[in-house]
Amino acid sequence: MRPSKRLEKIPPYLFAELERKIAAKRAAGVDVISLGIGDPDTPTYSPIVTAAQAAVADPSTHTYPTNRGREEFRTAVAGFYRRRFGVELDPDTEVMPAIGAKECIFNLNLAFLDPGDIALAADPGYPVYTGGPLLTGGEPFLMPLLPERGFAPDFDAIPATVLDRARLLFFNYPNNPTGAIVPDGLFDAAVELARTHDILVVHDNAYSETTYDGYVAPSFLATPGAKDVGVEVFSLSKAYNMTGWRCAAIVGNAEAIEHYWRLKSNIDSGLFEAVQLAGAAALQPALDADVRAMNAVYQRRRDAVCDALSQAGVHVTPPKGSIYVWAPIPPGFESAAAYCEHVLEHAAVVISPGGAYGQSGEGFFRISLTTPDDRLLEALERIRRL
Ligand SMILES: Cc1ncc(COP(=O)(O)O)c(C=O)c1O
Repeated sequence: MRPSKRLEKIPPYLFAELERKIAAKRAAGVDVISLGIGDPDTPTYSPIVTAAQAAVADPSTHTYPTNRGREEFRTAVAGFYRRRFGVELDPDTEVMPAIGAKECIFNLNLAFLDPGDIALAADPGYPVYTGGPLLTGGEPFLMPLLPERGFAPDFDAIPATVLDRARLLFFNYPNNPTGAIVPDGLFDAAVELARTHDILVVHDNAYSETTYDGYVAPSFLATPGAKDVGVEVFSLSKAYNMTGWRCAAIVGNAEAIEHYWRLKSNIDSGLFEAVQLAGAAALQPALDADVRAMNAVYQRRRDAVCDALSQAGVHVTPPKGSIYVWAPIPPGFESAAAYCEHVLEHAAVVISPGGAYGQSGEGFFRISLTTPDDRLLEALERIRRL
């Protein structure tokens, strides 16, 4: 059976491929440890589960949700943005639930790109920044994130002909996969670029709550002028251990959110209202302590990974945010994929090849910190022995 040409344009989704390899090895009896996917190993915090249980038992959540979202959820997101980032949002027009950030980022391509239009995409970056444009008839333009620039894209290096056709800009800090925090002035430069070239900025805020060493991540929307040109996609997946719940919000520019709503009202029927009520419970100040405790766990694991890598001769700056360590592959391997294949074959440890996040990720690999300490230490020991 032949799929559409647009589907054939994109490579298989990285983690689908990894999951297939892990399953094959495990079926053959190998004890594989995966440091591949960024999926928290700790359960969702109990106040969120308790709120969800009550919400599921409430018949008012059982009907089709509206795509606008429950007032409780929109108000909770607005309250969180005020408390956490000092950003004022109108819960009626500047906040809407999304069925995870992935859905939202993908659908923004459908809402804003026509054939021939361009989405500027951080490279390396979350794969939907490039798969989304390709699947919706647009084109991604890769903006390299390089260590020597603090993993900031160089807007001045984007050709004028590309900027003429650019409609969207996707980036994210704290960054997946590099662990970088937002370099000084980058958000202001994005606002300026968007104003000059009529681009919608999409800041993917999946990791603002997952930070270390006292670093506090800002929202893009706290940048002067940001709300005029952009939106932020805030995900509850990582900081609240809610990846399976599919709970996120798009916040910011009301006109952009209106277009996203119009698109979605033709595609899906919104986020289960019990999940919205659970999300509202997650964003209360009482949960801040759980998030801090989780960050302490990740910080400890981050230090263990950085120490083990340095003992193996690979020196990395410990990231101040996200749940990843991004490191150069050792000499002697022709590509990151070849090194990761080697680690899987000989140490039965899954790590992600940087090239899978874009061509500028080549030469690097990513370790996720979402594996219990004992298994993480065992995996690091296996890699060290290699
Ligand atoms: C940068 C980034 N954006 C978005 C997502 C997906 O978030 P969600 O679970 O809300 O779809 C991820 C997950 O790994 C991510 O790393």
